[in-house]
Amino acid sequence: MLSIGIVGCGTIGTALARAIDEGRIPALLSGLANRTQARAEALAGSLRTRPPVVKIPELVRASDLLVEAATGKALEEIVPACLREGKDVFVISVGGLLGHEEWFREAEARGCRILFASGAIAGLDGVRGAVVGRVDSVTLTTRKPPKGLAGAPYVVERGIDLDALTEETVIFEGTAREACKGFPTNVNVSAALSLAGVGPDRTRVRIIAVPGGRFNQHRIEVRGEFGRLAVEIENVPSATNPRTGLLSIYSSIAFLAGYARTTGSKAKRQDPT
Ligand SMILES: NC(=O)c1ccc[n+]([C@@H]2O[C@H](COP(=O)([O-])OP(=O)(O)OC[C@H]3O[C@@H](n4cnc5c(N)ncnc54)[C@H](O)[C@@H]3O)[C@@H](O)[C@H]2O)c1
Repeated sequence: MLSIGIVGCGTIGTALARAIDEGRIPALLSGLANRTQARAEALAGSLRTRPPVVKIPELVRASDLLVEAATGKALEEIVPACLREGKDVFVISVGGLLGHEEWFREAEARGCRILFASGAIAGLDGVRGAVVGRVDSVTLTTRKPPKGLAGAPYVVERGIDLDALTEETVIFEGTAREACKGFPTNVNVSAALSLAGVGPDRTRVRIIAVPGGRFNQHRIEVRGEFGRLAVEIENVPSATNPRTGLLSIYSSIAFLAGYARTTGSKAKRQDPT
């Protein structure tokens, strides 16, 4: 059976570990890693299979697939470790991939993959199709309650007082590359959209704070030779992290379940025992 290791035991990592532990993702949980070890140990202790808590290099060696559910910054340790061992890595903090195009080239050379799911949005299959032809524009408009934007470097550096807002306010307009720098934990969707489409410098992003808003809302619009594509999603924020919507968790579970079924059965067919 396919073995999966998880780095990051917060909102998403915990949900994924539980989904494996409960058999909703048909795989073995090879281990957990977290910046604060106590958090990983608490999660491990609450699971039926009691997976080991280990350091990242050891976890990579013990796993067929590594899942990053930590931060974009953590990718600088996780992705090279996976590439060295030729292991697939499923990235959730997709924004951390921008600026590291060399990782994709190296993965290809080593016969492994850097994978990501649609996360908090949908329609990336359509975007991938659209860029086969001429694309004129790709825009993402994100609306979030102010508390979902609190602490972002862009907000802190400019001293934006989110609590003082009384009406919908455009907080940021720029490229996806700039958005991922200024809002590293808020707009992973813009990175996923860029990587599926026209890249981080041609993908435009608007971030709007919505006082009193209940949902994290994303609207993608793509125009090109194929016509026009528009996708809009309203995500209910998760209970433990207002920046992370439920669909991001569900999308990762669905992705891993599909990966485990296809890759797990392929591994079985290749194993003569
Ligand atoms: N792709 C998407 O659509 C999407 C959607 C939501 C969240 N995300 C991203 O997924 C990531 C996880 O989200 P979450 O809601 O679970 O966050 P969270 O804050 O609840 O949990 C993150 C966990 O990772 C740990 N961590 C941080 N840095 C680490 C490191 N260097 N090594 C090991 N562990 C580390 C933290 O201690 C914490 O336990 C975030 O980066 C978030 O921005 C992506």
